[in-house]
Amino acid sequence: MEDRQESRGIFGEINLDRVDVTAPPPAEEPERQYYFMARDRELVRAKEAELGRSLRACVVTFGCQMNAKDSEKLLGILRAIGYEETDSEDADFVLYNTCTVRENANQRLYGRLGQTNSRKREKPQMLVALCGCMMQEAEEVEKVRKSYPFVDLVFGTHNIFKLAELLYLCLTEKCRVIDVWESTEQIVEELPAERKYPFKSGVNIMFGCNNFCSYCIVPYVRGRERSRAPEDILDEIRRLAADGVKEAMLLGQNVNSYGKNLPEPITFAELLRRVEEIDGIERIRFMASHPKDLSDELIQVMRDSKKICRHLHLPLQSGSSRILKLMNRKYDKEQYLDLAAKIQREIPDISLTTDIIVGFPGETEEDFEETMDVVRKVRYDSAFTFLYSPRTGTPAAAREDQVPPEVAKPRFDRLLREVQQIAAERCGRDLGTVQTALVEEIDSHDPSLVTGRLSNNLMVHFPGDARLIGHLVPVRLTEAHGFYYMGQPES
Ligand code: SAH
Ligand code: SF4
Ligand code: F3S
Repeated sequence: MEDRQESRGIFGEINLDRVDVTAPPPAEEPERQYYFMARDRELVRAKEAELGRSLRACVVTFGCQMNAKDSEKLLGILRAIGYEETDSEDADFVLYNTCTVRENANQRLYGRLGQTNSRKREKPQMLVALCGCMMQEAEEVEKVRKSYPFVDLVFGTHNIFKLAELLYLCLTEKCRVIDVWESTEQIVEELPAERKYPFKSGVNIMFGCNNFCSYCIVPYVRGRERSRAPEDILDEIRRLAADGVKEAMLLGQNVNSYGKNLPEPITFAELLRRVEEIDGIERIRFMASHPKDLSDELIQVMRDSKKICRHLHLPLQSGSSRILKLMNRKYDKEQYLDLAAKIQREIPDISLTTDIIVGFPGETEEDFEETMDVVRKVRYDSAFTFLYSPRTGTPAAAREDQVPPEVAKPRFDRLLREVQQIAAERCGRDLGTVQTALVEEIDSHDPSLVTGRLSNNLMVHFPGDARLIGHLVPVRLTEAHGFYYMGQPES
């Protein structure tokens, strides 16, 4: 145990020199992975000596914040092994972390793989790997196996912690490695992670999903809901805070059901209370919130909190009670409207955002009008709108009453116009006030400006330089531009 502590240090800055690579691999995790990291590192070093240059790895992420967080873990492992990180897919090791939530996510991957194939022809020793949600689908793995022979390594969502071990197999056996697990009970803590931003970080609080919304593939590819122990989460956030992180984003497919199945159950609201007590953390966000499990306790905690951001993403999916039932969402239009109204009453400065699917099987014009009605009543600060995409294996995909694109697309366009117009009106509401922005980067269009995120998740651009990055700055909002502000720093 002591050795483990010593060889780990803060944030997985592990000392691989202390790993005995002459011994057989340990059976326990995460020790086993540290062992393979050390072995991989030897191989990487040897290759570097042979080529006279460093080896570079590129991780390309598709999909949601869970995947982005997984990619940070994958990069952390690759870095510990000795790879240099690069954004260029012209690298020695290219890993695609895939998404399969809608068909276009799959198409994008196969498009990219075509280009990767040409690159690999010129550079045969390059390694190409696929992981993530799409690889949990047997038919996609079969397709890769048959039609993409240049892919060297395939793994899924349940065994990303095994990257070092799988890579070792690839490097030593010189064969293709495919290792996809159907499910897991395991949560492997304490692997290195490479954070993308020094000042903010996602933190997994749970994995998987038990909701089985009838259109959604996520429960099939991410497995059953598993909550992390609160102490593990709080420890991680404390370490992040000590390392300069100011904003923690708690991640789960349905954070509102966090902790229900732990040996000692705890509510999500209670977890938030404990996160709030951590010094150094100035802002707390979370994603995603299922309306069916959103408690009064959570609304209270948000209302009374100094740190929880004034933003709630509350996916609607449809405004029609009939469609919501078919979607297996377990709330109806009235319950959703009541909940939104209660939140807006209790926390008047809250910014509500949502996800909406257009063209779910059987959706009629009347059903769609119900969705438009909710949009007009709630007046979202922004909304992600999606055309329904049938996912093989989900109940909705098997329905015979699929809505043809020529019906769904015009509805989608109408919804988008409505959502954008309301969002533009909403965006203006804080004009002239002073708000705190967490500065994220130099403005990509004008280097004399910086870009910061407001508590309500909107962006503001204002004069400043790189020294402000990662700092919370009071800014007067001087112009509203539909979905962002221009501002002036207040001294
Ligand atoms: N767990 C999150 C959602 C994850 S998927 C939640 O419940 O909020 C993100 C969004 O993708 C969903 O909210 C939904 O709007 C959309 N989505 C999921 N499956 C889809 C499908 N088959 N077709 C179109 N959109 C879909
Ligand atoms: Fe998918 Fe529903 Fe789970 Fe969200 S809550 S991931 S939409 S099944
Ligand atoms: Fe996509 Fe998987 Fe997230 S399917 S949306 S990356 S959980």
